[in-house]
Amino acid sequence: MKGIILAGGTGTRLHPITRAVSKQLLPIYDKPMIYYPLSTLMLSGLREILLITTPHDQDAFSRLLSDGSQLGIEISYVVQERPNGLAEALILGEKFLDGEKCALILGDNLFYGPGLGTHLRQNTTVDGALIFAYQVSNPSAYGVVEFDKHGKVLSIEEKPAVPKSSYAVPGIYFYDERASHFARQLTPSERGELEITALNNAYLERGELRAEILSRATTWLDTGTHESLYEAGGLIRTLQHRNATRIGDVEQIARDLGWI
Ligand code: G1P
Repeated sequence: MKGIILAGGTGTRLHPITRAVSKQLLPIYDKPMIYYPLSTLMLSGLREILLITTPHDQDAFSRLLSDGSQLGIEISYVVQERPNGLAEALILGEKFLDGEKCALILGDNLFYGPGLGTHLRQNTTVDGALIFAYQVSNPSAYGVVEFDKHGKVLSIEEKPAVPKSSYAVPGIYFYDERASHFARQLTPSERGELEITALNNAYLERGELRAEILSRATTWLDTGTHESLYEAGGLIRTLQHRNATRIGDVEQIARDLGWI
């Protein structure tokens, strides 16, 4: 399995900060935001990573992460010319994936929790699609997944005004070899984007999508607004002070995994 981090977008909800700086390079306490999703992929055991950025931010990311060899991984870069939607990552990444399975993570999503790496690692041989579900207080801000009483997925809706459950879909997705192929068949939504929810629905319609509930022991934050950015920084600071552990420290993880 290979990993893709999507760090495109215009970060409009964070203006004026993101007028001149990529959202995914903003600090979450003591590290750039991108370190956190990168660390999640590394903890999943993935060492070949594609980083998708906007055309004007690519240089800054490559100054920060270069080719990944300092972390014992391989990072390559591709640009997304316009914010055409999350599912476009699978099309832009088709050559990089070269027929392999893929984990896609959004550059502004932060995961933390005991056993998370082990949990994710168990899924790197996915057939079909695997998404996750996490109970939140504001599901309308996200993709929302509805389950029947046996835990089977009934529907996934993108930012529904009236959500059918409180389970949001976090920004990490595992796909088999066909993701790029299905992404190519999507048409843009009303807001003009190739929606990741549409790709997930393509797998769901074939009966080939599974959703796993992330336990409450896992913390999932997205950091796309001033409030959530501030909260995430505070949380990382508190956890690091209290537990004397470091979160999202890609160098420490590379060392612990024996990659450097
Ligand atoms: C995107 C997806 C949404 C998902 C969310 C996770 O929304 O479209 O389905 O729940 O990421 O962060 P965005 O944050 O791009 O509006």
